[in-house]
Amino acid sequence: MKTTGWGIIGPGAIAQNFADGLAEAPSGRLVAIASRNPARRDAFGARNGVEPAHRHASYADLVADPAVDAVYISTPHPFHAEHALLALRAGKPVLVEKPAGLTAAQVAAVADVAARAGLLFAEAYMYRCHPQIARLLEILKSGEIGTPRHIRAQFGFNAGFNPASRLYDRALGGGGIMDVGGYPVSLARLVAGAAVGRAFADPVTVKGSGIVGQSGVDEVAYGLLGFAGGFTAEVACAIARTMDNRAVIEGDKGRIELVDPWVPGRNAGPSDATISVTVGGETRVEVLRSPQHLFAFEAELFSRTIAEGATEAPFPALSPADSLGNAVVLDRWRAELGGVDRTWGSCGAFSVCDGQPTIENCGPCDGYSVSPFGRPTHPPALSHAGIGNVIN
Ligand SMILES: NC(=O)c1ccc[n+]([C@@H]2O[C@H](COP(=O)([O-])OP(=O)(O)OC[C@H]3O[C@@H](n4cnc5c(N)ncnc54)[C@H](OP(=O)(O)O)[C@@H]3O)[C@@H](O)[C@H]2O)c1
Repeated sequence: MKTTGWGIIGPGAIAQNFADGLAEAPSGRLVAIASRNPARRDAFGARNGVEPAHRHASYADLVADPAVDAVYISTPHPFHAEHALLALRAGKPVLVEKPAGLTAAQVAAVADVAARAGLLFAEAYMYRCHPQIARLLEILKSGEIGTPRHIRAQFGFNAGFNPASRLYDRALGGGGIMDVGGYPVSLARLVAGAAVGRAFADPVTVKGSGIVGQSGVDEVAYGLLGFAGGFTAEVACAIARTMDNRAVIEGDKGRIELVDPWVPGRNAGPSDATISVTVGGETRVEVLRSPQHLFAFEAELFSRTIAEGATEAPFPALSPADSLGNAVVLDRWRAELGGVDRTWGSCGAFSVCDGQPTIENCGPCDGYSVSPFGRPTHPPALSHAGIGNVIN
């Protein structure tokens, strides 16, 4: 059986989870890592059985390593698009940690490069690879709760204020919306899509409120999404507030509750999940037993997809179009809180250099509007040469 040899860029905390999942994935294996830090390189490499010759000091060397079939990117948010482009230009498929880009403009540009190159570019929303999401979709499709009408979904934790942490550092894309807001938004879009027989749906309206703290990032955020056809969503996220962290879907005949939608069983395995379905006052509880490490589902799915030469993992993993739709909502949600984008000092635009899109740090700006096609476009005064070539 053909397997996928993975190289990891940014072997930090989440990369260890991915490596643990990969160790249980028959279709994949870890072959290389790249870290700028020699101690981390050696410790991570030794712990995960990476040969010293494949412990790279530079990210460019990793993507050029012939042993690497695919690249997993787990650097902080602002580098996701840049490192994805690095790998794609080297001809390697990419699984990038969430968020796929700092802005929808970045996601659109990277997705475009991947599509033109015929390479996989996917956002690592691990929860979508866990069997509970496939089961949720089956229950929705069965009509047991009738037509889905509303979802409440939250992902919030209290990390404690620490300006040195990437969560609170605006230069590192800090804040709850970028770190965990994409989870409830992506689930809301998934269920809104299921209500109309599609893979996802995008909201027509996005309203938000929250708290932007002393380091300039959103510490707590609440959002209200309205979809065509009347489906509604309450989403919430935080890095400074512990939340309920459940998802409740209400239909016109009943309701479904996911007790732990995002990290069932936490990170160690078994990753059991509990779904309760209430119809006519009667509740039945389904427990999905999964002895695997939580990240084994994602690691196996993408290893198999890439080994088979496919450029997109099967639904309900996020497609690039789904990731782009999610990024548009995150942009709009952040804009509702006010001021957050400007402080990052980058509008997420791309310029073209030698015919290749590249990330341009263009200084503070007012962000951009969203075209009727869901594609981000810059206002004329802020347009950048080449962005039209990339995303239109
Ligand atoms: N899917 C999930 O469940 C999940 C969970 C947590 C985090 N994440 C995502 O994974 C990403 C990384 O999070 P993490 O908590 O694993 O981070 P982390 O432990 O701080 O690791 C970050 C890695 O990125 C590298 N890096 C490159 N440039 C950097 C810079 N300027 N500053 C800091 N680090 C830099 C570091 O690489 P060097 O070794 O080269 O120094 C380090 O290995 C985030 O985007 C986050 O959203 C996903």
